Amino acid sequence: MTKNLIIFGTRPEAIKMAPLVKEFNKYSNVFETRVCITAQHREMLDQVLSFFEINPDFDLDLMKPNQSLYSLTADIITHLKPVLEEFKPDYVYVHGDTTTTMAASIAAFYSGAKVCHVEAGLRTFNKRSPFPEEINRSIAGSVSDYHFAPTTTSKQNLLNENIANSSILVTGNTVIDALRYSSNKVTSGSYTDEEIENLKTNVDLSKKVILVTGHRRENHGQGFINICNALKQIAVENPDVQIIYPVHLNPKVQKPVYELLADIENIKLIAPLSYPSFVWLMSQSYIIVTDSGGVQEEAPSLGKPVLVMRDTTERPEAVEAGTVVLVGTNTNKIVQETNKLLKNSDDYSKMSKLHNPYGDGKSCKRIVEFISNL
Ligand code: UD1
Ligand code: UDP
Repeated sequence: MTKNLIIFGTRPEAIKMAPLVKEFNKYSNVFETRVCITAQHREMLDQVLSFFEINPDFDLDLMKPNQSLYSLTADIITHLKPVLEEFKPDYVYVHGDTTTTMAASIAAFYSGAKVCHVEAGLRTFNKRSPFPEEINRSIAGSVSDYHFAPTTTSKQNLLNENIANSSILVTGNTVIDALRYSSNKVTSGSYTDEEIENLKTNVDLSKKVILVTGHRRENHGQGFINICNALKQIAVENPDVQIIYPVHLNPKVQKPVYELLADIENIKLIAPLSYPSFVWLMSQSYIIVTDSGGVQEEAPSLGKPVLVMRDTTERPEAVEAGTVVLVGTNTNKIVQETNKLLKNSDDYSKMSKLHNPYGDGKSCKRIVEFISNL
């Protein structure tokens, strides 16, 4: 039996790896698949595990309030050693570009397992933006044996780094598999969701909803102050707009956001939403303003325009298609681009095309088939 260990630690990795766990579990006669969570995130990770009904085999339970990159990296490598030595996986799967990804890929390499990188090859070519993700994914790429690239652009980035063509597979992004799973589950007759029902009661859907998320480290400090000032100005100038912001649990995000935005009538600050509720809220939104990677990939599939509060993106496909615009963290630029979409219907309809550059929902199938044929 081939032994797989799937390792992840944060909300987005969990969302994007959950469909892979489910796909491997369909072939339990061929693969013994175990899940190890570092729990770099805790509540935000547990929300995802619960929705996708995944019970991890190993939980390193590492999250500490306001954790540092130094201690988290060291803890992940040290705590993975006994797991890797006990289970002795043939293949270890890591996802994307977090500290869990980078540290787990190194630990897996030390163990002698073959390392498989899911969502491989994304690059901005700026090592400080996003920080530290650009370096995390480069490190994971260099220790990996197999690279599952979401698009042909990400494959080309890997080829340019002299990674062998035969070790790269273009799969699409597994986030689209997750979106499909979620919409199938939510629309099945038996599903009920109290959180979505609460949102229906508490969100004024007769107004234009602007959905906001933000957490990037390079935006901490002045970046977040600028973002909050922009949201405040948009809310005050547009009383017909309802801004909803599920605030990331990082204290460096919570503090400025609650200090600067708590008292504004048409801004609703709420706790992070479970995945199906967030997807539902995206579908109800008029505009999405975010610095998230995953949201940039999901929104085009829902036909929603996205303003990205970053100076660089490793996801150029939707920018090229015109459904995503980079606005950085300059207050005036965020206000200006949002107002353009609110007030000019031509600009709005150009950006709200349904567009699917990130996959067809079959990425995990392709990964499992590739591994089966090795
Ligand atoms: C991390 C990833 C980032 C990813 C993001 C997704 C790194 C360096 N950063 O950033 O690439 O895009 O997750 O959201 O890997 N916290 C909680 N509960 C939670 C989660 C976080 O309280 O469930 C708080 C804790 O105080 C924690 C802090 O947030 O110490 C920061 O978490 P961390 O994972 O280090 O950084 P993120 O900003 O979440
Ligand atoms: N998301 C969620 N609840 C929220 C906000 C986001 O489930 O309140 C989902 C979102 O649909 C996407 C992922 O979390 O799939 C993005 O995570 P995040 O922005 O934290 O990280 P990034 O993608 O930037 O690494």
